[in-house]
Amino acid sequence: MRDEVLILAIETSCDETSAAIVKNGRKVLSNIISSQIDTHRKFGGVVPEVASRKHLENINIVIDEALSEPGISLKDIDAVAVTYGPGLVGALLIGLSTAKAIAYSSKLPFIGVNHIEGHISANYIEHKELEPPFVCLVASGGHSHIVNVVGYNIYKVIGRTRDDAAGEAFDKIARALGLGYPGGPLIDKLAVSGNREAIDFPRAFLEEGSYDFSFSGLKSAVLNYLNSRKMKNEEISPADIAASFQEAVADVLSIKLIKAALDKKSKYAVLAGGVASNSRLRELLRQRGEQAGIEVLYPSPLLCTDNAAMIGCAAYYRYICGIRSDFTLNAMPNLSLE
Ligand code: KG4
Ligand code: ZN
Repeated sequence: MRDEVLILAIETSCDETSAAIVKNGRKVLSNIISSQIDTHRKFGGVVPEVASRKHLENINIVIDEALSEPGISLKDIDAVAVTYGPGLVGALLIGLSTAKAIAYSSKLPFIGVNHIEGHISANYIEHKELEPPFVCLVASGGHSHIVNVVGYNIYKVIGRTRDDAAGEAFDKIARALGLGYPGGPLIDKLAVSGNREAIDFPRAFLEEGSYDFSFSGLKSAVLNYLNSRKMKNEEISPADIAASFQEAVADVLSIKLIKAALDKKSKYAVLAGGVASNSRLRELLRQRGEQAGIEVLYPSPLLCTDNAAMIGCAAYYRYICGIRSDFTLNAMPNLSLE
């Protein structure tokens, strides 16, 4: 194996078409992200067929840019990596077939990566000192998992949502408030001018000792609050609702992550996924981490959202262990991490 391993990584699991060149797992030479948010915004969410079509339109342009930005050609590349699940099947297939075509025609090793593993690995790019074992909360539009990262490529999911993902709850409440899509960043922004103690929305901690989540009760409570005020013709404060809702989510996520880190004797409590950008969640975690003597880590906002650099990082730790995928690898919309 060469001293320098360059991986071309591709990510198309949802509504971002992304390609990256990653050196030795943690150095990002390029990370091109073409977001479809403006296209999906008018529908209030991601339309799967539209997402696939947009990926198809953009994928070659994005890959060309990822290679040309650092001045790299395919003959310098050591392996091609791609997300093969979980995600939207039609969207995944665009990245997967493109990656297979490049790897096959250039006679390069081909490595399939789990999208959630990618989100966790974004932290290795940001925090060069971070190494397993540690406990990580992956909170995105599709998942809310507490993962015990036992080693590179070895994961144990110790908590998961029983209904909505955290990001999904943010998106639904934002829609009910008429804020638009995607809801997380909009609620985060609006909450700054609201009172987080204005409304005491419920927190679901579930059974004693459980690391699982449930956001459907909270979601119903916010919707009921809105409906009952509307029926009584009473004024509402969207900023107070946003701040109180966000507080309920951030409260539960941060308490459970710190507890998991303590229980598993992890030095770190690590955050990943789109919701890891949330300012109140970061703040509460920092406070609670400090009280518990646990170091809290998260990636910068660009690496929290879907991107190919995180896939290239995860692929590197497969590559150096000799793990390869074959060309029969299929898209797996419900791929599990374990
Ligand atoms: O990881 P991601 O980019 O895509 C998925 O894999 O799902 O996460 C997107 C999710 C969306 O639900 C979005 O509303 C949420 O992350 N999100 C946030 C924030 N920024 C993005 N949620 C709360 N606060 C934020 N600042
Ligand atoms: Zn994601």
